[in-house]
Amino acid sequence: MQRSLKRILQFIGVGLLAAFALALAIAPVSNSLVDQWFRADVEARSRLVYNAVKMPIVRALSDRDFDRLSGIFDSVALDPRILAVGLCDDTGKLTRPTKLMPANFSCDKVARSEGVSFSTIINDGMHIMVGTFPITERNQKSYFVILHDLTFIDTRSDEARAMLVAVLLAVAAVLLITSAVVFALALRSWMNSLRKAVEEILPGSARMAGKRDTASVDDEIKRMLRAVERGRETIRSAEVDWNPDTLQRLLVEMMPDAEVLIVSNREPYIHNRAPDSNKIEVQIPASGLVAALEPVIRACGGTWIAHGSGSADRETVDANDRLPVPPDNPSYVLRRIWVSDEEQDGFYYGLANEGLWPLCHIAFVRPLFRESDWHYYRAINERFAEAVVHEAKTDDPVVLVQDYHFALAPRMIRQRLPKATIISFWHIPWPNAETFGICPWKEEIIDGLLGSTIVGFHTQFHCNNFFETVDRFIESRIDREHATVTLRGEETLVRAYPISIDWPPKALAGQAPVAECRVAVRRALKLADDIKLVVGIERFDYTKGILDRMKALDDLLTREPQWKHRLVFVQVAAPTRSRLEKYSKLQEEAVALSDDINQRHGDGSYKPIQLIVRHHDQKEVFRLFRAADLCIVSSLHDGMNLVAKEFVAAREDERGVLILSSFTGASRELSEALIVNPYNTREMSEALGTGLRMPDHEQRARMRSMRRQVREWNVYRWAGRMLIDAAGTRRRQQIIDIANG
Ligand code: G6P
Repeated sequence: MQRSLKRILQFIGVGLLAAFALALAIAPVSNSLVDQWFRADVEARSRLVYNAVKMPIVRALSDRDFDRLSGIFDSVALDPRILAVGLCDDTGKLTRPTKLMPANFSCDKVARSEGVSFSTIINDGMHIMVGTFPITERNQKSYFVILHDLTFIDTRSDEARAMLVAVLLAVAAVLLITSAVVFALALRSWMNSLRKAVEEILPGSARMAGKRDTASVDDEIKRMLRAVERGRETIRSAEVDWNPDTLQRLLVEMMPDAEVLIVSNREPYIHNRAPDSNKIEVQIPASGLVAALEPVIRACGGTWIAHGSGSADRETVDANDRLPVPPDNPSYVLRRIWVSDEEQDGFYYGLANEGLWPLCHIAFVRPLFRESDWHYYRAINERFAEAVVHEAKTDDPVVLVQDYHFALAPRMIRQRLPKATIISFWHIPWPNAETFGICPWKEEIIDGLLGSTIVGFHTQFHCNNFFETVDRFIESRIDREHATVTLRGEETLVRAYPISIDWPPKALAGQAPVAECRVAVRRALKLADDIKLVVGIERFDYTKGILDRMKALDDLLTREPQWKHRLVFVQVAAPTRSRLEKYSKLQEEAVALSDDINQRHGDGSYKPIQLIVRHHDQKEVFRLFRAADLCIVSSLHDGMNLVAKEFVAAREDERGVLILSSFTGASRELSEALIVNPYNTREMSEALGTGLRMPDHEQRARMRSMRRQVREWNVYRWAGRMLIDAAGTRRRQQIIDIANG
């Protein structure tokens, strides 16, 4: 406030100076005007006097009574403005001048003409106006002279000038003060609204009053708003091209000094001891989450906190359970958390994968909820939250909490680090309220997630389901327009951020040209060079619709047997969660179904399905994608599905057909794929036929458009959009903190 007052006073001061300068500039004009007015006045008075005394003078002259003449002159000179009067005769002699007639006055100096005339003489620095009036008596001409002292004009001019300056300054002052008051009132009401907005968000805002000097709060608010504006500039330019640099720049400019921490169950690098050689091997797991987040943290740096699940994980960390990764070129820290087998059974296999996974994926697998699993789930969430506090070097880190394994962690972190910016991303679908309602701990899960600053889903549809669920089970305020939920005075932004892959993907580097990949892969699989290759690559999970696509292939070979010996379907399935009955059963069923199909449609030399159950690294996956004619993603339900995007990214040759389930988040973006309902076997088998027959030019057109989509909406944009939203809420939080003292 003091600073604002100073500004207002400065504004008034400058305004007054300008008004003063203006008054001085126009003063000469005013002086000459005043001079003219008074001269005219004096001339008029002289005429009046002349008219009044003309006849008495003529009579006195006629009578030659010069004493009477003197008497007349003296009585005229009594007027205080009149300095002196006298009579000049025709010869230039001055007759009967009154007492104060200046000694240097001479009749020669006045114009003796027919008419009345006025002139100015100076005597001792005094301006004197001489009015000369002709008087004729008996053909004798003389001139009545009246001398007026004009000094009073100067005095009046000075007075008028002073008055003018004073009036101008007064008018300027009134105008300036009025504007300043109006401005100050407007500013005050604006600041009040801002403060009110801050107070509204702030629980117990009454505490704010008087706690801190409002002036410094206002100054801070202004500083913050300027910073927000600077950030917006960055976003505008950053929207052009999303890459690691953009992301880094965004972090530095919008969240300077922010440290980034990731929390996930699956770690990005798993160290395993090879069973045969006993050597330590590094594995990058088959996980969409890892595929998406790894490029992000490589770009930003920071710490990734994850479960150390590898058989050699303990041997490869330091005393603080940390190790720098990636192993070939470290750019961030991996902090491993240890989880016992018993805890793993309850937390990971139990609650996460037998409870929440089937609950959120509509694959018609019954979720299992056990009290003991819930106990472990809570305990492991606590452990990870503790690790966040331990790893954080600041009290307001940016924490990226990943997935359904950590629904409770956001609230736990919030309680320990109230100033943290917590972004939770739910990588799987969120079901409707009715479905979610069967979870015995629905309130705790929702409450846990609402400890986040932002909760992200892949699609708006999942956000809507989340709002509906919150609305049904929790007492809170939902603002759908601004996509927020406010619980106990804390606001959480709920938004859709479609996840993606890095562009160009790392796995593309060093790949052989597509033609070479086609030949090499066919050789490795012992297939003829001209065989049509259909691929499916994913974790061996019942949500992926692996059986359904085999059935579609069966249908195609039955309806169009000409494809036999001309096409092979290679299903690469990475073993996952095999300890769970549903998974092991699926794996058995898949083996049995592929055997059955191979038996019915194949012969000694031809097997239409090759089921390869092992983990493939990204290089192998991309090589297979490049060799394929068709890729099939038939998930029964999937948050996004990055396999579809990886296939598109692998095809620099703009060839290949993607068959994509309409129940994946990816189908919202990759609309040029052949979109199918995986439950409809015939539809999927027809799509297979269409894909196998699709001409090159159509493949190119579809692939080109999908590649553009994935390139532009890459993983850096996914992370960047979340960070931009986080920076906005973080700034708002900082303002609240300042307001709170
Ligand atoms: C999905 C989940 C991830 C998980 C991945 C692999 O993508 O959203 O959180 O990491 O599957 O599953 P896993 O159980 O092997 O980690």
